[in-house]
Amino acid sequence: MLIPQEFIRKKRDNQPLSKEEIAQFIHGVTDGSVANEHISAFAMAVYFNGMSLDEKTALTLAMRDSGESLRWDLDGPVVDKHSTGGVGDVVSLMLGPMLAACGAYVPMISGRGLGHTGGTLDKFESIPGYNVLPDNAHFREVVKECGVAIIGQTSALAPADKRIYSIRDVTATVESIPMISASILSKKLAEGLDTLIMDVKVGSGAFMPTYALSKELAQSIVEIANAAGVKTQALLTDMNQSLACNAGNALEVKEAVAYLIGKHRDPRLHRVTMALSRAALLSTGLAGSEIEADTMLERSLSSGKALEIFGKMVSMLGGPSDFCDRYEAYLPQAAVIAPVFPLERGVVASMDLIAIGMSVVGLGGGRIRPIDAIDHSVGLEKIVHIGDRVDKQTPLCIVHAKDQESFHEAQKRIQRAVQIGDTPIETQEIYETIG
Ligand code: URA
Repeated sequence: MLIPQEFIRKKRDNQPLSKEEIAQFIHGVTDGSVANEHISAFAMAVYFNGMSLDEKTALTLAMRDSGESLRWDLDGPVVDKHSTGGVGDVVSLMLGPMLAACGAYVPMISGRGLGHTGGTLDKFESIPGYNVLPDNAHFREVVKECGVAIIGQTSALAPADKRIYSIRDVTATVESIPMISASILSKKLAEGLDTLIMDVKVGSGAFMPTYALSKELAQSIVEIANAAGVKTQALLTDMNQSLACNAGNALEVKEAVAYLIGKHRDPRLHRVTMALSRAALLSTGLAGSEIEADTMLERSLSSGKALEIFGKMVSMLGGPSDFCDRYEAYLPQAAVIAPVFPLERGVVASMDLIAIGMSVVGLGGGRIRPIDAIDHSVGLEKIVHIGDRVDKQTPLCIVHAKDQESFHEAQKRIQRAVQIGDTPIETQEIYETIG
């Protein structure tokens, strides 16, 4: 029998932990025989001493095996994309149907937004009737029929992660690359994937505070997932500004549908969506070259197939059957819609993207605590890009708010968050690919 304090002492003293010891500890986390004190001390020891690849892989697999894992028997590769999150990161809503249109199956189990970041699940909940927690049989049916189903995490998926994460959250141990890698991958690997594409964000709105740490996280995730038998690549992409033109749940869904229809396709968002989708098609072998992948993806859009798949998924998960035809009428609308102008004229030099994300939270579009309810209608529309010229007639964005008071609060935050100057910081959509 494992004695938790002996296990913790080993990590504290930098001695290697065996696969069996890690599995027993995580078993104890799941059945309750390991106490909160043990988990917090272990997390702190890992925070300071790190973990070898063998230890990280063993931790990830033990956490994955603390709950259910999906198994598929489909006539195409099973693939998913996961992002470390940010503002206006609406890629999943288009990428899922686009990959499905190209012959992949995408069982995407997504999360809610927390802190300044948006969550895919919250975005889907702005669609009336959409059920983010279907039972397992229905989830499988939607994946089989549509090629994609985007749903939420049930308590059956990696329950050890749920417990460990809630303790890390209150013991200053979230910022540990081995723990973050194991936490993300325990849930993703339980989806039964052949291929995973990771989108690790870099910049002022990224989860990791520096480029070097984002890269270290990407490398760690790629190494562990490949060691666990899931072909994985990571792209380091920009989060110094909102990825989409809109940030906020219903507003992002609106932008995603407009993208699929071809009504409005922001070039930055398109480049990142294409890069992640291309990586998935190449990794699964559905495309043999970048040119072939791009042709397949462009065809999925121009033929209307990706749009049709999105509409079918929405309908099968309880949303309106004519959602894509009447999405603007179905999505909730805020009472106050008004522009925010800069305090001075000039070029948008940089943005404090955490503050921009928090302005959406302040409007009611995100949560301070996981249990908080959110207002799907609020957010920011037509957000300026770094390098854009602005003046007292050119707005920084259009705010959608529930009332004048919250509009004014958001206005102040946004005006403070956008730095006007002469020289914009240099950004590019995709920095590098790992793996
Ligand atoms: N997201 C997760 O799922 N886990 C972490 O530890 C950090 C981000």
